[in-house]
Amino acid sequence: MSKPHDHQNEKFTELNRKNQEALLGGGVKRIEQQHSRGKLTARERIHLLLDEGTFEELGKFVMHRARDFGLDKEHYLGDGVVTGYGRINGRLVYVFSQDFTVFGGSLSETHAEKIVKIMDLAMKNGAPLIGLNDSGGARIQEGVVSLGGYADIFYRNVMASGVVPQISAIMGPCAGGAVYSPAMTDFIFMVENTSFMFVTGPNVVKTVTHENVTAEELGGAITHSTKSGVTHFACANEAECIRYIKQLLSYIPQNCEDEAPRIPYTPSNERRPALDSIVPENPNQPYDMRDVILGVVDEGSFFEVHKNFAENIVVGFARLAGRSIGIVGNQPAALAGVLDIHSSVKGARFVRFCDSFNIPLLVLEDVPGFLPGTDQEWNAIITNGAKLLYAFSEATVPRVTVITRKAYGGAYDVMNSKHIGADMNYAWPTAEIAVMGAKGASEIIFKKEISEATDPEAKLNEKVDEYTRKFANPYRAAHRGYIDEVIFPDQTREKLITAFAMLENKVAVLPKKKHGNIPL
Ligand code: HXC
Repeated sequence: MSKPHDHQNEKFTELNRKNQEALLGGGVKRIEQQHSRGKLTARERIHLLLDEGTFEELGKFVMHRARDFGLDKEHYLGDGVVTGYGRINGRLVYVFSQDFTVFGGSLSETHAEKIVKIMDLAMKNGAPLIGLNDSGGARIQEGVVSLGGYADIFYRNVMASGVVPQISAIMGPCAGGAVYSPAMTDFIFMVENTSFMFVTGPNVVKTVTHENVTAEELGGAITHSTKSGVTHFACANEAECIRYIKQLLSYIPQNCEDEAPRIPYTPSNERRPALDSIVPENPNQPYDMRDVILGVVDEGSFFEVHKNFAENIVVGFARLAGRSIGIVGNQPAALAGVLDIHSSVKGARFVRFCDSFNIPLLVLEDVPGFLPGTDQEWNAIITNGAKLLYAFSEATVPRVTVITRKAYGGAYDVMNSKHIGADMNYAWPTAEIAVMGAKGASEIIFKKEISEATDPEAKLNEKVDEYTRKFANPYRAAHRGYIDEVIFPDQTREKLITAFAMLENKVAVLPKKKHGNIPL
C-alpha cells in the first residue's frame, strides 16, 4: 500500500512536469524556429527584462476553453502568453510576453484574460505595464470571443492612460486590430527586421490598391520610426530593445501621483563655455540643437525619443542636476527647425506624456515659423499645429523656455511662451523675437518705399537693417516681461538648475471640466 507522502511526491512530480511544459511553450522545435529567426522566446525576453529572480508568474496553468477546429485536441499551459510581475532596477513592473511558439502567439479568450488581469493589477497598484508583443492576432478558431478579448484590453489601455506608464515592444508580428493596443500605450519599441505592424498586410494591400510591398516596407521598424512615427524607437535587436526599455523607465515615475526617480547630485561649477560658440554668426546657418541639449543637461543623460521621425523637432528625456526633465527643442539642422504637421504632433504627444507623469518641461526654441505649402495646408497644419499649442497650454508641470535664436510668428506663441503658461522664459542675446524675419517683414511694410526708391535693393537692405536693429533681438520682449532674463549661453545650465529648483513645488490647477477637446 502506498504511503500518503508517495501520493504527495507523485502529485509534485506531475506538477513539475506541467511546469516544464509551460516553460517550453509550443515545444523545442518551435523554440528552435523562433531562435533561427533571430527572435528570443517569451520567457527569455522576460528574463532579460527583469532583475534576476524577481519574476512572479501568474496564470501559468491557464489553458484555452475553445473546442472548435481541433482546439479540443491541442492545449498548451499558459495559452500563448506569459504574464506576471517583477522588478526593474528594484522598481515594480507588470509584464506580459506573448509566446509565438503557441498558436503563433494568437490571442484567445483566456490569453486576453491573463493580460487583463495584470493590467488591472498594474492600475490598482500604480506600476508601469510592459507588453512584449509577438502575435498572429486574434485566435482565428475562436471567433468573436477573441475580438472581445482585444476590446477588453483596449478599454483598459484607455483607462490606464495617464495613470500608469504603458510601454509596448513589438518583437514579431502585430497585425490587424491588434495594433491598437500598442497604439494607445505611451511608447512603442520595434525590433528591426523581425517585427512589423500594420492594419492590413501586403496581400490585402495588393488586392485593394495593386501596390507591391513587403511586410518590412509596409510596417517594419524603419518604416514606422521614420515615415509614420508609429514607433518611438527602432532597435537593432531584442537585447537592445530591452536595454532601451529599462533606460526609458529610469526617467519616468511609477504612476501619475509619483515623482520620477532622482539621481544624487553634487553641485559644482555649472558654467558651460562650450555653449557660447554653438549658434553661428550668420542667422541663416543651421546648427544642431542636440549640441545645446548636451551642453545643458547632466553628462550622458540625454535619451532621445522619436529620433528619426520629424527631425525638425527634437524630443527626449534627460537629467538636470539629477532630476528627470523632458526636452522639446526646435532643430535648425532639419528644415531650418520649422514646425510642420509631423513635428507638431510629435512634440504635442511628448508634452502630454511629460505632463501626465509630472516630468518638468524644458523648451529650447529656434523656430522660423510654420512650414508653408499646399501639402501642409491640405493635410491640416491648422489642426495639427494647434495640438502642440493646446498641449503646452494645458500642461501644469514646471515649464521653462530658452530662446536660442529665432522665435517668429505664431510659432513664438506655440513654443511654450509666457502667454500660454510657461513659468520662466530666458533668451540668449542672439534671440530674434518678431512677427517674421527682417527681410520678409521689410518687403511687406516698406513695399511702397522700396519700389519707389532709385535703388530698391539698397533700400530693402537699409530697411532690413532697421527692422533687425529694432525687432530681431530679445530686448523688446524682455521690456514687456515676456522674457524673464536675457542670459549668456554659458550661464544656461546654472539658470535652469536654479529655475527648476524654484519651481519644484509648483501647483497649477486647470478649470473644472470633464475633459478638454484637444483638436484631434
Ligand atoms: C490561430 C495562428 C494565428 C491566428 C498564426 N497562427 N496566426 N493560429 N490564429 N491568428 C498559427 C499558425 O497556424 C501556425 O500554426 C503558427 O501559428 C505559426 O504561424 P506561421 O504562419 O507558420 O508563422 P509565420 O510564417 O511566421 O507567419 C506568421 C503570421 C501568419 C504572419 C502571423 O501566421 C499569419 O498571417 N497569421 C494570420 C494573421 C491574421 O490574419 N490574424 C488575424 C488578424 S485580424 P501551426 O500549427 O501550423 O504551426 C485580427 C483582428 C483583431 O487580429 C481585431 C481586434 C479588434
